[in-house]
Amino acid sequence: MEKAYSNFFISSLLLLLHLYLLETVCIDAVHTDESALFALKASFTLNSSHPLTQNWSSQSSICDWIGVTCGSRHHRVTALNISNMSILGNIAPHLGNLSFLVSLDASQNNLHGDLPQDLSRLRRLKVMDFAFNNFSGEIPMWFGSNSSSISKLETLSVRNNSLQGNIPKEIGNLKNLKELILFGNQFTGTIPLSIFNMSSLEILGLSNNQLTGSLPVDICHRLHRIKSIGIISNHLSGHIPPGLSNCTELYELSLSYNSFNGTIPPEIVNLERLQFLNLGGNKLRGTIPANIGNLQKLQQVQLENNYMVGSIPHTISNLSSLWMLNLNTNSLSGIIPREIVNLHKLEILYLQINKWFHTGRALQYLYTNRGFSFLQ
Ligand SMILES: *[C@@H]1O[C@H](CO)[C@@H](O)[C@H](O)[C@H]1NC(C)=O
Ligand SMILES: *[C@@H]1O[C@H](CO)[C@@H](O)[C@H](O)[C@H]1NC(C)=O
Ligand SMILES: *[C@@H]1O[C@H](CO)[C@@H](O)[C@H](O)[C@H]1NC(C)=O
Ligand SMILES: *[C@@H]1O[C@H](CO)[C@@H](O)[C@H](O)[C@H]1NC(C)=O
Ligand SMILES: *[C@@H]1O[C@H](CO)[C@@H](O)[C@H](O)[C@H]1NC(C)=O
Ligand SMILES: *[C@@H]1O[C@H](CO)[C@@H](O)[C@H](O)[C@H]1NC(C)=O
Ligand SMILES: *[C@@H]1O[C@H](CO)[C@@H](O)[C@H](O)[C@H]1NC(C)=O
Ligand SMILES: *[C@@H]1O[C@H](CO)[C@@H](O)[C@H](O)[C@H]1NC(C)=O
Ligand SMILES: *[C@@H]1O[C@H](CO)[C@@H](O)[C@H](O)[C@H]1NC(C)=O
Ligand SMILES: *[C@@H]1O[C@H](CO)[C@@H](O)[C@H](O)[C@H]1NC(C)=O
Ligand SMILES: *[C@@H]1O[C@H](CO)[C@@H](O)[C@H](O)[C@H]1NC(C)=O
Ligand SMILES: *[C@@H]1O[C@H](CO)[C@@H](O)[C@H](O)[C@H]1NC(C)=O
Repeated sequence: MEKAYSNFFISSLLLLLHLYLLETVCIDAVHTDESALFALKASFTLNSSHPLTQNWSSQSSICDWIGVTCGSRHHRVTALNISNMSILGNIAPHLGNLSFLVSLDASQNNLHGDLPQDLSRLRRLKVMDFAFNNFSGEIPMWFGSNSSSISKLETLSVRNNSLQGNIPKEIGNLKNLKELILFGNQFTGTIPLSIFNMSSLEILGLSNNQLTGSLPVDICHRLHRIKSIGIISNHLSGHIPPGLSNCTELYELSLSYNSFNGTIPPEIVNLERLQFLNLGGNKLRGTIPANIGNLQKLQQVQLENNYMVGSIPHTISNLSSLWMLNLNTNSLSGIIPREIVNLHKLEILYLQINKWFHTGRALQYLYTNRGFSFLQ
């Protein structure tokens, strides 16, 4: 009896101790979040009238601060959105202490400096958006290295910054990545093969960089979910791989302004979801695929500034969603098919600097009735 009583006493005591510790740990953790945000604020240069200057203060709970979202139960910071707030400064490494952070959006500010390695400790992070800032240096290797914890990352955008150097192959280790947006930096070197190995990837945005090399022939071997490939204005060369036709989810293929040569692979007409086909400004030869009419969803076809020959296939009349057709500056010939008149969505048509036999009545009709310009 006495033993049972004392057991009860001890377990009650332990329970109280446990609750006390839990509480303390919890308060400490919330305090960690607060000091991380204060360190972040200190790394910004904010004038007295900036919204964060007054608002991010110990007067109120961090969960009430502008741009901060907390989890409802544990009151830890789960989202930080300081997008488009005219913030000048850099990112304090303490941001890596926000261990419950799921979403981080610091886009459209004037942030500069390096992306601190401490961000690799954010193991719950799914969204990291640093677009439209002025971060510099190389894209850190830690992004996908085995010492990094950000394996849940689904969206990574550093669009329009001043990053340079190679794209680290370690990025391919981010097994949950769906969107990789590296547009508008100064990345050089080849696209690491590991990127074409990411079975979760849906959007690959590499336009406006200085990347070299070619696309792998088996580009779609593992990119089963890829929906959009954008690599405009780089220095890629070689052929457009016929294997692209195995990326059945593709709605955008934008490879304009590179040095691709060879022909447009006819297999491309199997990409039934394709809406945007942009291959202008390359060194492409050969003809427009005869069965292009299969691509019922096409809205935009830009093949300008190449060395394409032959005539416009009559199947073009099937492209009822076509809004823009740009065939400027090629060596296309023959008669422009009159069916083009029936493409009711067509608003932009560029055909000049080719070798057309004659422009024909169809074009006269389009010209006068829809106000097209730039017809030869
Ligand atoms: C910060 O802004 C939020 C939302 O506008 C407001 O609820 C909160 O009271 C503000 N805190 C301080 C200390 O001004
Ligand atoms: C951040 O807030 C802006 C509006 O202020 C919104 O457009 C954007 O989607 C938000 N970012 C995230 C990741 O939710
Ligand atoms: C950014 O904020 C400005 C006003 O401060 C607003 O006019 C603009 O539309 C915002 N841009 C975006 C992309 O949200
Ligand atoms: C404070 O900074 C904001 C942008 O960060 C700017 O729009 C505003 O004019 C500045 N105010 C003063 C008083 O300098
Ligand atoms: C937060 O992170 C910084 C730098 O990453 C570190 O030096 C500091 O000890 C951390 N602070 C707390 C309270 O965990
Ligand atoms: C971006 O940073 C570079 C230095 O790293 C500087 O030369 C440039 O002026 C900055 N650009 C803007 C828009 O602030
Ligand atoms: C992590 O990667 C390094 C080199 O990239 C390698 O030497 C090391 O064995 C790896 N560690 C683990 C645990 O995989
Ligand atoms: C983004 O970068 C591209 C080229 O690198 C440039 O043309 C564009 O103006 C930039 N956009 C903004 C909003 O800075
Ligand atoms: C692609 O993934 C497979 C399986 O995960 C791996 O064995 C291979 O090394 C990877 N290749 C590249 C180039 O990353
Ligand atoms: C196409 O480009 C590749 C790589 O630049 C080159 O090796 C090849 O000779 C070119 N082929 C043609 C037909 O121009
Ligand atoms: C598409 O994938 C299949 C099966 O993996 C393969 O046999 C075929 O060669 C691929 N097509 C192209 C054009 O590469
Ligand atoms: C035109 O579209 C129909 C489906 O609407 C399709 O069955 C047919 O094969 C297409 N014709 C050509 C020539 O692409």
